[in-house]
Amino acid sequence: MGAPSITIYRGDTSRLKNQVPIAERYTAAFHEEERKKIFARAWLPVASAIDIPDKGSYTVVEVPPMKTSLIVVRGDDGTVRAFHNVCRHRGDRLVHLGQGKEQGCRKAFTCGFHAWTYSNAGKLIGVTDETQFPGLDREKHGLVPVHAEEWESLVFVNFEKTPHVSLREWLGDFHDQYKGFSAGREKIAEHRLVLKTNWNIAVNAFSEGYHNLYIHRNTVPDYQGGSDNPQRHRPYMEVGEHWGRYSAHANFDHHQTPAEAVIYKHTRRLFPSFQKIDPEALAPGVNPSRFPQWAFDIVPIFPHFVLGPQANAHSHMWFWPIDHEHTEIRIQRYAYKAQSAADRLAQAYSKVRGREVLREDLATMEASLAAISSGALPHIVLSQQEMLIQNHYRAADDMIARD
Ligand code: FES
Ligand SMILES: [Fe+2]
Repeated sequence: MGAPSITIYRGDTSRLKNQVPIAERYTAAFHEEERKKIFARAWLPVASAIDIPDKGSYTVVEVPPMKTSLIVVRGDDGTVRAFHNVCRHRGDRLVHLGQGKEQGCRKAFTCGFHAWTYSNAGKLIGVTDETQFPGLDREKHGLVPVHAEEWESLVFVNFEKTPHVSLREWLGDFHDQYKGFSAGREKIAEHRLVLKTNWNIAVNAFSEGYHNLYIHRNTVPDYQGGSDNPQRHRPYMEVGEHWGRYSAHANFDHHQTPAEAVIYKHTRRLFPSFQKIDPEALAPGVNPSRFPQWAFDIVPIFPHFVLGPQANAHSHMWFWPIDHEHTEIRIQRYAYKAQSAADRLAQAYSKVRGREVLREDLATMEASLAAISSGALPHIVLSQQEMLIQNHYRAADDMIARD
Protein backbone atom coordinates (compact mmCIF):
# COMPACT_ATOMS: atom_id res chain seq x y z
CA MET A 1 0.00 0.00 0.00
CA GLY A 2 1.20 3.50 -0.77
CA ALA A 3 0.72 6.49 1.50
CA PRO A 4 -2.89 7.52 2.04
CA SER A 5 -4.23 10.06 -0.42
CA ILE A 6 -4.05 13.69 0.62
CA THR A 7 -6.53 14.59 -2.10
CA ILE A 8 -9.61 16.67 -1.41
CA TYR A 9 -12.25 15.80 -4.02
CA ARG A 10 -15.00 18.21 -5.07
CA GLY A 11 -17.86 18.07 -7.56
CA ASP A 12 -20.32 15.43 -8.77
CA THR A 13 -18.33 12.23 -9.14
CA SER A 14 -21.38 9.96 -9.10
CA ARG A 15 -21.36 9.20 -12.84
CA LEU A 16 -17.63 8.79 -13.33
CA LYS A 17 -16.34 5.41 -14.46
CA ASN A 18 -12.95 3.94 -13.65
CA GLN A 19 -13.01 1.71 -16.72
CA VAL A 20 -13.64 3.11 -20.18
CA PRO A 21 -14.09 0.90 -23.28
CA ILE A 22 -11.62 2.48 -25.62
CA ALA A 23 -10.73 1.18 -29.10
CA GLU A 24 -14.15 2.08 -30.52
CA ARG A 25 -13.73 5.68 -29.34
CA TYR A 26 -10.77 6.24 -31.62
CA THR A 27 -12.40 5.26 -34.93
CA ALA A 28 -13.34 7.53 -37.86
CA ALA A 29 -17.05 6.84 -37.29
CA PHE A 30 -16.86 7.80 -33.62
CA HIS A 31 -14.93 10.95 -34.46
CA GLU A 32 -17.70 12.03 -36.83
CA GLU A 33 -20.06 11.89 -33.84
CA GLU A 34 -17.59 13.93 -31.78
CA ARG A 35 -17.42 16.57 -34.50
CA LYS A 36 -21.18 16.91 -34.84
CA LYS A 37 -22.21 16.56 -31.22
CA ILE A 38 -19.24 17.96 -29.31
CA PHE A 39 -17.21 20.40 -31.39
CA ALA A 40 -20.20 21.86 -33.24
CA ARG A 41 -22.00 22.54 -29.92
CA ALA A 42 -19.39 23.32 -27.29
CA TRP A 43 -17.95 26.68 -26.34
CA LEU A 44 -14.40 26.26 -27.63
CA PRO A 45 -11.34 28.23 -26.59
CA VAL A 46 -9.74 29.20 -29.91
CA ALA A 47 -7.38 32.10 -29.33
CA SER A 48 -5.41 33.98 -26.70
CA ALA A 49 -6.66 37.44 -25.78
CA ILE A 50 -3.06 38.62 -25.55
CA ASP A 51 -2.73 38.14 -29.33
CA ILE A 52 -5.41 40.78 -29.96
CA PRO A 53 -4.51 43.53 -27.50
CA ASP A 54 -5.59 46.65 -29.44
CA LYS A 55 -8.51 47.91 -31.49
CA GLY A 56 -8.10 46.33 -34.92
CA SER A 57 -5.78 43.52 -33.72
CA TYR A 58 -6.64 40.18 -35.24
CA THR A 59 -5.42 36.62 -35.29
CA VAL A 60 -6.34 33.90 -37.77
CA VAL A 61 -6.94 30.49 -36.22
CA GLU A 62 -7.56 27.16 -37.85
CA VAL A 63 -10.35 25.09 -36.29
CA PRO A 64 -9.70 21.66 -37.80
CA PRO A 65 -12.74 19.76 -36.47
CA MET A 66 -15.04 22.41 -37.97
CA LYS A 67 -12.96 22.44 -41.17
CA THR A 68 -12.70 26.20 -41.03
CA SER A 69 -10.42 29.12 -40.45
CA LEU A 70 -11.56 32.03 -38.29
CA ILE A 71 -10.54 35.66 -38.11
CA VAL A 72 -10.72 36.65 -34.44
CA VAL A 73 -10.59 40.43 -34.27
CA ARG A 74 -11.00 43.24 -31.77
CA GLY A 75 -13.15 45.87 -33.46
CA ASP A 76 -12.74 49.62 -33.17
CA ASP A 77 -15.36 49.44 -30.42
CA GLY A 78 -13.09 47.11 -28.38
CA THR A 79 -15.43 44.11 -28.82
CA VAL A 80 -13.91 40.77 -29.82
CA ARG A 81 -15.66 39.08 -32.75
CA ALA A 82 -14.98 35.98 -34.82
CA PHE A 83 -15.75 35.49 -38.51
CA HIS A 84 -15.25 32.68 -40.95
CA ASN A 85 -12.16 33.58 -42.95
CA VAL A 86 -14.02 33.54 -46.25
CA CYS A 87 -14.96 36.36 -48.62
CA ARG A 88 -18.69 36.86 -49.29
CA HIS A 89 -18.12 37.40 -53.02
CA ARG A 90 -16.87 34.08 -54.35
CA GLY A 91 -15.44 32.51 -51.26
CA ASP A 92 -11.72 33.17 -51.41
CA ARG A 93 -9.82 33.11 -48.15
CA LEU A 94 -9.93 36.67 -46.91
CA VAL A 95 -6.61 36.34 -45.08
CA HIS A 96 -4.50 33.80 -46.95
CA LEU A 97 -2.58 31.40 -44.74
CA GLY A 98 1.16 30.83 -44.72
CA GLN A 99 2.02 34.35 -45.89
CA GLY A 100 2.94 35.79 -42.51
CA LYS A 101 -0.37 37.69 -42.25
CA GLU A 102 -2.03 35.49 -39.65
CA GLN A 103 -1.69 38.23 -37.04
CA GLY A 104 -1.70 41.99 -37.28
CA CYS A 105 -3.75 45.13 -36.79
CA ARG A 106 -6.19 46.44 -39.42
CA LYS A 107 -9.05 48.86 -39.78
CA ALA A 108 -10.36 46.74 -42.65
CA PHE A 109 -9.75 43.49 -44.53
CA THR A 110 -9.55 43.54 -48.33
CA CYS A 111 -9.87 40.36 -50.33
CA GLY A 112 -6.96 39.74 -52.68
CA PHE A 113 -9.16 38.33 -55.45
CA HIS A 114 -11.51 41.22 -56.44
CA ALA A 115 -10.84 43.61 -53.55
CA TRP A 116 -14.11 43.55 -51.61
CA THR A 117 -13.45 45.21 -48.25
CA TYR A 118 -14.84 44.50 -44.78
CA SER A 119 -14.53 46.57 -41.60
CA ASN A 120 -12.94 45.04 -38.50
CA ALA A 121 -16.53 44.61 -37.23
CA GLY A 122 -17.30 42.40 -40.26
CA LYS A 123 -19.38 44.88 -42.31
CA LEU A 124 -19.03 44.90 -46.09
CA ILE A 125 -17.77 48.45 -46.68
CA GLY A 126 -16.33 48.29 -50.17
CA VAL A 127 -17.41 46.57 -53.40
CA THR A 128 -15.26 47.25 -56.44
CA ASP A 129 -17.15 48.16 -59.65
CA GLU A 130 -20.32 48.05 -57.60
CA THR A 131 -22.68 49.15 -60.43
CA GLN A 132 -22.18 45.70 -61.93
CA PHE A 133 -23.88 44.08 -58.91
CA PRO A 134 -27.42 45.45 -59.34
CA GLY A 135 -29.48 45.04 -56.19
CA LEU A 136 -26.60 43.83 -54.02
CA ASP A 137 -27.43 44.56 -50.38
CA ARG A 138 -24.17 45.27 -48.56
CA GLU A 139 -25.94 44.91 -45.22
CA LYS A 140 -26.65 41.26 -45.98
CA HIS A 141 -23.13 40.45 -47.15
CA GLY A 142 -20.94 41.10 -44.16
CA LEU A 143 -18.50 38.44 -43.00
CA VAL A 144 -20.15 35.28 -41.65
CA PRO A 145 -19.96 35.54 -37.86
CA VAL A 146 -19.40 32.88 -35.24
CA HIS A 147 -20.44 33.58 -31.64
CA ALA A 148 -17.37 34.76 -29.73
CA GLU A 149 -16.68 35.85 -26.18
CA GLU A 150 -13.57 37.04 -24.46
CA TRP A 151 -12.95 35.36 -21.10
CA GLU A 152 -9.83 36.33 -19.14
CA SER A 153 -6.82 35.15 -21.17
CA LEU A 154 -8.89 33.41 -23.86
CA VAL A 155 -11.42 33.88 -26.64
CA PHE A 156 -14.13 31.23 -26.82
CA VAL A 157 -16.35 30.60 -29.85
CA ASN A 158 -19.52 28.62 -30.40
CA PHE A 159 -20.55 27.36 -33.85
CA GLU A 160 -24.25 26.82 -33.12
CA LYS A 161 -26.65 29.21 -34.89
CA THR A 162 -27.93 30.18 -31.48
CA PRO A 163 -25.77 28.73 -28.69
CA HIS A 164 -27.87 26.35 -26.58
CA VAL A 165 -26.26 27.92 -23.50
CA SER A 166 -24.26 31.08 -22.86
CA LEU A 167 -20.56 30.84 -22.07
CA ARG A 168 -21.43 31.78 -18.49
CA GLU A 169 -23.86 28.86 -18.27
CA TRP A 170 -21.40 26.53 -20.01
CA LEU A 171 -18.69 27.27 -17.42
CA GLY A 172 -20.98 27.65 -14.39
CA ASP A 173 -19.37 29.01 -11.19
CA PHE A 174 -15.98 28.64 -12.83
CA HIS A 175 -16.79 31.59 -15.11
CA ASP A 176 -16.22 34.22 -12.41
CA GLN A 177 -13.44 32.52 -10.46
CA TYR A 178 -10.44 33.58 -12.55
CA LYS A 179 -10.78 37.39 -12.66
CA GLY A 180 -7.46 38.95 -13.62
CA PHE A 181 -5.46 35.75 -13.07
CA SER A 182 -3.32 36.34 -16.17
CA ALA A 183 -2.72 40.09 -15.79
CA GLY A 184 0.78 41.43 -16.36
CA ARG A 185 2.06 38.42 -18.29
CA GLU A 186 3.81 38.02 -21.63
CA LYS A 187 4.23 35.06 -23.95
CA ILE A 188 7.55 33.25 -23.46
CA ALA A 189 7.14 30.17 -25.62
CA GLU A 190 4.97 28.75 -28.37
CA HIS A 191 5.03 25.20 -29.74
CA ARG A 192 2.98 23.65 -32.55
CA LEU A 193 3.09 20.11 -33.82
CA VAL A 194 0.92 17.46 -35.42
CA LEU A 195 1.01 13.95 -34.01
CA LYS A 196 -0.47 10.73 -35.33
CA THR A 197 -2.65 10.29 -32.31
CA ASN A 198 -6.25 10.70 -31.25
CA TRP A 199 -7.10 14.04 -29.63
CA ASN A 200 -8.57 12.33 -26.54
CA ILE A 201 -5.29 10.56 -25.87
CA ALA A 202 -3.47 13.88 -26.15
CA VAL A 203 -5.74 15.83 -23.81
CA ASN A 204 -5.78 12.91 -21.34
CA ALA A 205 -1.97 12.93 -21.10
CA PHE A 206 -2.17 16.51 -19.80
CA SER A 207 -5.04 15.86 -17.38
CA GLU A 208 -3.30 13.78 -14.71
CA GLY A 209 -0.20 14.00 -12.54
CA TYR A 210 0.13 10.26 -11.89
CA HIS A 211 2.79 10.02 -14.62
CA ASN A 212 4.99 12.67 -13.07
CA LEU A 213 7.11 10.30 -10.96
CA TYR A 214 7.81 8.04 -13.89
CA ILE A 215 7.89 9.69 -17.28
CA HIS A 216 9.54 12.86 -15.97
CA ARG A 217 12.03 11.10 -13.68
CA ASN A 218 14.99 12.35 -15.69
CA THR A 219 13.96 15.96 -16.24
CA VAL A 220 12.07 17.06 -13.11
CA PRO A 221 12.64 14.26 -10.59
CA ASP A 222 12.02 16.15 -7.34
CA TYR A 223 10.11 19.35 -8.10
CA GLN A 224 6.73 18.06 -6.93
CA GLY A 225 5.49 16.36 -3.77
CA GLY A 226 7.34 16.20 -0.49
CA SER A 227 8.34 13.70 2.18
CA ASP A 228 4.71 13.56 3.38
CA ASN A 229 3.46 12.87 -0.15
CA PRO A 230 5.76 10.31 -1.77
CA GLN A 231 3.18 9.27 -4.38
CA ARG A 232 2.59 12.89 -5.30
CA HIS A 233 -1.12 12.66 -4.88
CA ARG A 234 -2.79 15.82 -6.04
CA PRO A 235 -3.88 17.87 -3.01
CA TYR A 236 -7.06 19.03 -4.74
CA MET A 237 -9.21 17.66 -7.51
CA GLU A 238 -12.55 18.97 -8.75
CA VAL A 239 -14.91 18.06 -11.55
CA GLY A 240 -17.47 20.35 -13.20
CA GLU A 241 -19.86 19.70 -16.05
CA HIS A 242 -17.49 21.01 -18.73
CA TRP A 243 -14.20 21.30 -16.89
CA GLY A 244 -12.02 19.73 -14.25
CA ARG A 245 -9.08 20.98 -12.24
CA TYR A 246 -6.39 19.71 -9.94
CA SER A 247 -3.69 21.38 -7.88
CA ALA A 248 -0.14 20.01 -7.73
CA HIS A 249 2.08 19.86 -4.65
CA ALA A 250 5.40 21.75 -4.91
CA ASN A 251 8.60 20.52 -3.31
CA PHE A 252 10.27 23.70 -2.11
CA ASP A 253 13.27 21.64 -0.94
CA HIS A 254 14.12 20.26 -4.34
CA HIS A 255 17.73 20.11 -5.44
CA GLN A 256 18.44 23.35 -7.31
CA THR A 257 20.49 23.19 -10.48
CA PRO A 258 23.45 25.64 -10.62
CA ALA A 259 21.49 27.82 -13.07
CA GLU A 260 18.50 28.00 -10.73
CA ALA A 261 20.71 28.85 -7.77
CA VAL A 262 22.04 31.88 -9.64
CA ILE A 263 18.90 33.05 -11.45
CA TYR A 264 16.50 32.74 -8.55
CA LYS A 265 18.67 34.83 -6.27
CA HIS A 266 17.56 37.73 -8.42
CA THR A 267 14.02 37.01 -9.57
CA ARG A 268 10.81 35.04 -9.09
CA ARG A 269 10.71 31.35 -9.89
CA LEU A 270 9.22 29.86 -13.00
CA PHE A 271 8.36 26.27 -13.99
CA PRO A 272 9.69 23.79 -13.04
CA SER A 273 10.65 25.72 -9.89
CA PHE A 274 7.93 26.94 -7.58
CA GLN A 275 7.91 29.42 -4.74
CA LYS A 276 5.67 29.93 -1.74
CA ILE A 277 3.12 32.61 -2.34
CA ASP A 278 0.21 33.96 -0.36
CA PRO A 279 -2.74 31.89 -1.62
CA GLU A 280 -5.11 34.72 -0.78
CA ALA A 281 -3.41 36.84 -3.46
CA LEU A 282 -4.73 34.45 -6.12
CA ALA A 283 -8.06 34.55 -7.96
CA PRO A 284 -10.47 32.17 -6.17
CA GLY A 285 -10.33 29.57 -8.97
CA VAL A 286 -6.54 29.36 -8.82
CA ASN A 287 -5.29 26.99 -6.11
CA PRO A 288 -8.94 26.70 -5.01
CA SER A 289 -8.16 24.82 -1.77
CA ARG A 290 -5.48 27.39 -0.82
CA PHE A 291 -2.96 24.56 -0.48
CA PRO A 292 0.13 26.14 1.16
CA GLN A 293 2.69 24.17 -0.83
CA TRP A 294 1.01 24.84 -4.13
CA ALA A 295 2.91 24.45 -7.41
CA PHE A 296 0.34 24.85 -10.19
CA ASP A 297 -3.12 23.87 -11.36
CA ILE A 298 -4.09 21.82 -14.37
CA VAL A 299 -7.51 22.78 -15.71
CA PRO A 300 -8.92 20.81 -18.64
CA ILE A 301 -11.72 22.82 -20.25
CA PHE A 302 -13.83 20.35 -22.19
CA PRO A 303 -13.38 19.25 -24.86
CA HIS A 304 -9.89 20.04 -26.14
CA PHE A 305 -8.14 22.66 -24.02
CA VAL A 306 -6.00 22.66 -20.86
CA LEU A 307 -5.29 25.81 -18.88
CA GLY A 308 -2.28 25.72 -16.54
CA PRO A 309 -2.25 28.52 -13.94
CA GLN A 310 0.90 28.91 -11.82
CA ALA A 311 2.09 31.54 -9.34
CA ASN A 312 4.13 33.57 -11.82
CA ALA A 313 3.02 32.04 -15.09
CA HIS A 314 0.35 30.13 -16.97
CA SER A 315 0.00 27.97 -20.06
CA HIS A 316 -2.56 27.44 -22.82
CA MET A 317 -2.68 23.99 -24.44
CA TRP A 318 -4.91 23.04 -27.37
CA PHE A 319 -5.44 19.50 -28.65
CA TRP A 320 -7.32 19.97 -31.94
CA PRO A 321 -8.51 16.88 -33.77
CA ILE A 322 -7.65 16.94 -37.47
CA ASP A 323 -9.28 13.53 -37.84
CA HIS A 324 -9.57 10.46 -35.62
CA GLU A 325 -5.86 9.74 -35.82
CA HIS A 326 -4.20 13.14 -36.18
CA THR A 327 -4.05 15.88 -33.58
CA GLU A 328 -2.65 19.37 -33.85
CA ILE A 329 -1.16 20.47 -30.55
CA ARG A 330 -0.67 24.16 -29.84
CA ILE A 331 1.03 25.14 -26.61
CA GLN A 332 1.68 28.67 -25.38
CA ARG A 333 3.48 29.57 -22.17
CA TYR A 334 3.25 32.89 -20.38
CA ALA A 335 5.21 34.47 -17.52
CA TYR A 336 5.57 37.79 -15.72
CA LYS A 337 6.78 40.57 -18.02
CA ALA A 338 10.57 40.72 -17.97
CA GLN A 339 11.92 43.90 -16.44
CA SER A 340 15.49 42.84 -15.77
CA ALA A 341 18.18 40.60 -17.22
CA ALA A 342 17.44 38.07 -14.46
CA ASP A 343 13.75 37.99 -15.46
CA ARG A 344 14.73 37.33 -19.07
CA LEU A 345 17.14 34.59 -18.02
CA ALA A 346 14.47 32.97 -15.87
CA GLN A 347 12.08 33.00 -18.84
CA ALA A 348 14.67 31.45 -21.16
CA TYR A 349 15.62 28.81 -18.61
CA SER A 350 11.97 27.92 -17.99
CA LYS A 351 11.31 27.73 -21.72
CA VAL A 352 14.10 25.20 -22.23
CA ARG A 353 13.28 23.10 -19.17
CA GLY A 354 9.58 23.19 -20.04
CA ARG A 355 10.25 22.03 -23.58
CA GLU A 356 12.10 18.96 -22.32
CA VAL A 357 9.21 18.05 -20.03
CA LEU A 358 6.68 18.58 -22.82
CA ARG A 359 8.70 16.36 -25.12
CA GLU A 360 8.34 13.53 -22.61
CA ASP A 361 4.58 14.10 -22.35
CA LEU A 362 4.19 14.12 -26.12
CA ALA A 363 6.35 11.05 -26.67
CA THR A 364 3.74 8.56 -25.47
CA MET A 365 0.84 9.61 -27.65
CA GLU A 366 1.51 8.07 -31.03
CA ALA A 367 2.39 4.70 -29.51
CA SER A 368 -0.76 4.76 -27.36
CA LEU A 369 -3.00 5.20 -30.40
CA ALA A 370 -1.23 2.45 -32.34
CA ALA A 371 -1.47 0.09 -29.35
CA ILE A 372 -5.11 0.79 -28.54
CA SER A 373 -6.18 0.67 -32.21
CA SER A 374 -5.13 -2.98 -32.32
CA GLY A 375 -8.30 -3.68 -30.35
CA ALA A 376 -6.34 -5.77 -27.84
CA LEU A 377 -7.68 -3.87 -24.83
CA PRO A 378 -11.29 -4.21 -23.72
CA HIS A 379 -10.99 -0.96 -21.76
CA ILE A 380 -8.54 1.39 -20.05
CA VAL A 381 -8.35 1.57 -16.26
CA LEU A 382 -8.39 4.94 -14.49
CA SER A 383 -7.31 5.64 -10.89
CA GLN A 384 -8.79 8.27 -8.63
CA GLN A 385 -5.77 10.43 -9.43
CA GLU A 386 -6.92 10.22 -13.05
CA MET A 387 -10.40 11.49 -12.19
CA LEU A 388 -10.21 14.36 -14.67
CA ILE A 389 -9.84 11.78 -17.45
CA GLN A 390 -12.88 9.94 -16.10
CA ASN A 391 -14.70 13.28 -16.20
CA HIS A 392 -13.55 13.95 -19.77
CA TYR A 393 -15.20 10.76 -21.04
CA ARG A 394 -18.31 11.41 -18.92
CA ALA A 395 -18.64 14.88 -20.49
CA ALA A 396 -18.09 13.44 -23.99
CA ASP A 397 -20.72 10.73 -23.47
CA ASP A 398 -23.22 13.28 -22.13
CA MET A 399 -22.83 15.46 -25.23
CA ILE A 400 -22.93 12.53 -27.64
CA ALA A 401 -26.12 11.23 -26.00
CA ARG A 402 -27.92 14.54 -26.61
CA ASP A 403 -29.99 14.95 -29.78
S1 FES B 1 -13.64 36.34 -53.83
FE1 FES B 1 -13.22 38.02 -52.54
S2 FES B 1 -13.56 39.73 -53.74
FE2 FES B 1 -13.95 38.10 -55.06
FE1 LIG C 1 3.72 15.58 -17.81
